[in-house]
Amino acid sequence: MATSTNTAANVDNFFASSAARFDRWRELNAKAQTWAAGARSANSRSGRTAVEAALAQVRPLEDFFAYPGSRLMKALAERIASDDALGTARLVRRVSGALLTDSYRYESGQWETSDDDNDSVPESLGQTFQAAEVRRPYFEALFVTPVPAANVAKLANEIRRLRRVEDAMIYEPVLVGSVEDAMLATILNGKIQSVVIFDGIPVPSRHDVPLLRDLLTTYQHLDASSDAPLEIGITLAKMIKRVRPELDIYLMTDRNVEKLAGDPAASMIRRVFYEVEELMEVHLNILEGVADRYSTPHFDNLKKYAARPIATFHALPIARGKSIMKSNWINDMGEFYGLNLFLAESSATTGGLDSMLEPTGNIKIAQEKFARAVGADHVFFVTNGTSTSNKMVYQAVTAPGDIVIADRNCHKSHHYGMVLSGSQPLYVEAFPMTEYSMYGAVPLRTIKQALLNLKSEGRLDRVKMVTLTNCTFDGHVYNTRRVMQECLAIKPDLLFLWDEAWFGFARWSPFLRPRTGIGAAEWLEEWRASPEALRAYQAQAAELGEDLDPKDPRLLERRLVPDPRKIRIRVYETDSVHKSMSCLRQGSIVAVKDEDYNHHVSAFREAVFIHASTSPNAQIIASMDVARRQMELEGYELVRKAIEIALAIRKSVNEHPIISKYFRVLGSDGMIPKEFRNSGFRDFLDEGANWMTALKAVADDEFFLDPTRMTLVCGTAGFDGSALKSLLASKYNIQLNKTSRNSVLLQSNINNTRSDVALLIKVLLEISQDIEARLAEGGEAERAVLAAKVKSLMTDVPDLPNFSRFHDGYRENPKSVTLEGDMRSAFFAAYEEDDCEYIPLMSPKIDERLGKGPQMVSANFVIPYPPGFPIMVPGQVIEADTIGFMRKLDVKEIHGYNNARGLKLIKLSAIGKVREKAEPKKVQAAPATPAPGKKKSA
Ligand SMILES: Cc1ncc(COP(=O)(O)O)c(C=O)c1O
Repeated sequence: MATSTNTAANVDNFFASSAARFDRWRELNAKAQTWAAGARSANSRSGRTAVEAALAQVRPLEDFFAYPGSRLMKALAERIASDDALGTARLVRRVSGALLTDSYRYESGQWETSDDDNDSVPESLGQTFQAAEVRRPYFEALFVTPVPAANVAKLANEIRRLRRVEDAMIYEPVLVGSVEDAMLATILNGKIQSVVIFDGIPVPSRHDVPLLRDLLTTYQHLDASSDAPLEIGITLAKMIKRVRPELDIYLMTDRNVEKLAGDPAASMIRRVFYEVEELMEVHLNILEGVADRYSTPHFDNLKKYAARPIATFHALPIARGKSIMKSNWINDMGEFYGLNLFLAESSATTGGLDSMLEPTGNIKIAQEKFARAVGADHVFFVTNGTSTSNKMVYQAVTAPGDIVIADRNCHKSHHYGMVLSGSQPLYVEAFPMTEYSMYGAVPLRTIKQALLNLKSEGRLDRVKMVTLTNCTFDGHVYNTRRVMQECLAIKPDLLFLWDEAWFGFARWSPFLRPRTGIGAAEWLEEWRASPEALRAYQAQAAELGEDLDPKDPRLLERRLVPDPRKIRIRVYETDSVHKSMSCLRQGSIVAVKDEDYNHHVSAFREAVFIHASTSPNAQIIASMDVARRQMELEGYELVRKAIEIALAIRKSVNEHPIISKYFRVLGSDGMIPKEFRNSGFRDFLDEGANWMTALKAVADDEFFLDPTRMTLVCGTAGFDGSALKSLLASKYNIQLNKTSRNSVLLQSNINNTRSDVALLIKVLLEISQDIEARLAEGGEAERAVLAAKVKSLMTDVPDLPNFSRFHDGYRENPKSVTLEGDMRSAFFAAYEEDDCEYIPLMSPKIDERLGKGPQMVSANFVIPYPPGFPIMVPGQVIEADTIGFMRKLDVKEIHGYNNARGLKLIKLSAIGKVREKAEPKKVQAAPATPAPGKKKSA
């Protein structure tokens, strides 16, 4: 978000809050050093004024963090007041350094107010930070309490005195006195892990927080004048959970604790305490809650296993590493990876290890913890990527003949999943982004139309599932709530498979979570239980009838409401944990939130048996366990930083006077057509854009752009995507992933730092300056060359071909308006080489057949990289636009196209052969002789 829209002092400018905090301390440090350097000069007065002004900028945010805390802030103010420029500079330098390096978490000296003795621990800190070798994890606990300001320090010290040598972790309290300040602390301070809410807290903040107030109004109808303190406590707990569901919340009350503890409305509260009870109980619960998230049952067990003296007589020579460490020839591998990798290798499923195929021990618990973390009922670990997770879902929930509505542009694992399960794809098209040779996402209207067409033809019962990619490779995020709500209005028991291979991290962003499959399923559950749901449905039924008429044009124009009494919430979400969390490659999960999952339990087990290796990699499983731990404890903070970094890149590129002449990162307006952005949200960098406008877009718009996925247009600099990608990799050691004809995709993730931004900007500047120098040197001629290149890359772009149709031989009813087909039979037809033919792409024979026939039917998937979607699938009739696109496409990598032989086609004479073979029973089951008295059918 444009930081300019909020004044620097605004504490509710959340999008840039962590960077802004450090920047403010850096600024204060610079001013303090300047003041110290000129302490004896005539400018000393102005030096002090500048420090005071910078401190005023720093102050408001610091109320929400334990470090530096009130003691150090007071000491700082005293040094300034006593004109101690050198002392001020020393203290500011130490504090800003500790903040930047996070060293305050384990160095008690960083909390000291005096400069000379950094080892002594103030008595008030009690049992505190330890020597480096026994570093205990550090976190902060938020206490929302109505105690008068004068007693805050006393309460904080009381809490600190609860610390014990035996505590496995250490926390610092952060004390705030109102609901709004509690929300600010929750949002701003990622180190907070637990929240203790006392009875009787007021609502308003001491700060000026207009944006926060808007947010709270959208979250809950919070009444600042409410005199029902208990409800305020529960309301606050609910709001905190909406921002950070992973936090443990405790309520301290002197009212009817027993009643409250049994109230379902208070289910998000981990424990309710009677206020006069031992504070020690609260302390122990805080530690236990965080320890539960910290514990990684599989990884912990693997570490224990590795430390045991175990002799192996199973088939896995690298287990224990002896064949490696002792080898004359391969010991470098041992040195490179370290012995633990081999000590932790085993093919055993006993002796403390568990079986991934039939987990009953620590893997089962690790999966349950992951399910809790992502809000699912079940999670299955998969060690061969989301490619396999997707196939497992198809295998488990669809059967031959089921129709699946699928984005044709989805990952190939979906297409192969349907080949394997025999379900029939009904492809729906994403909106094209022709100018960048890529697709967006599938408009809801298109999906509704497909369902209504099936309903018109009386075949709605055949459609089992809708599968969509969320977010797409390029960052288009669906309005998952709305998609599911409207589809369920047409078919109340539909299943949804949200392929969130790229979007696993979104769970830990309050902005993006509502748009995840599981996040939306949670919302649907809440919505279904609300009285408004039935009211809205009944109002619609009064207007449109209970049984929607599929021919009624109004159905496409309005937001459909399902019958809350009938819908089933059936959501499957697949996440490449390795793509967005700290997990080894191929770690992936299937997350299930399906209230009819009991129908699929055994099928799911079969799917695991079919697709999972019988030798799953224990290290991958352990890394999923650890990735979950990290996300539950610091995912919120890390994801927020990844978003901040993306916003910094967007701003630095698009506002740089030289870089922006040649390169541009596309905003929402460049990636999403206007008709899908109801809220009017255009770009993260727009004047007036802030997280409130972004939240509105998240709630209202059909598509939202994941800010961390940045399409950098490079055709305007004369580079095609692949050329820029190669240049960045070979000359600058910068790796990226996807390219299009005229763009490359940059992604920020939890691993990126501000230094990465600096490097990228430096490199783009260097490339831009090279272009400038070339143009200056080459004059008119060089400018003409660049202009021609830019025109070719940006304007002469091929139209993207839509899916044509399956050949009639692969369709049950060729007259049907819906275009699903039996892709599996076509796929297997290609196994018979004699039934196939090849024609080179450039051959005039192709044009002849396009003109006069016979039809050409693709024998396989043809997937050019980029753009990476199948322009042909088995059984598809090939049409002129697909050939035109392929001929224009100057990419080297086309999966499924044999350059030497040409396009592989199924001979028309062979169509139907495999189907007949596959369905002998049907053929044999037909009566051999007509029943007496009946006419022989034609
Ligand atoms: C949308 C989508 N789904 C699934 C996958 C497969 O994921 P994995 O690489 O974890 O097998 C990818 C891979 O790029 C993808 O882009």
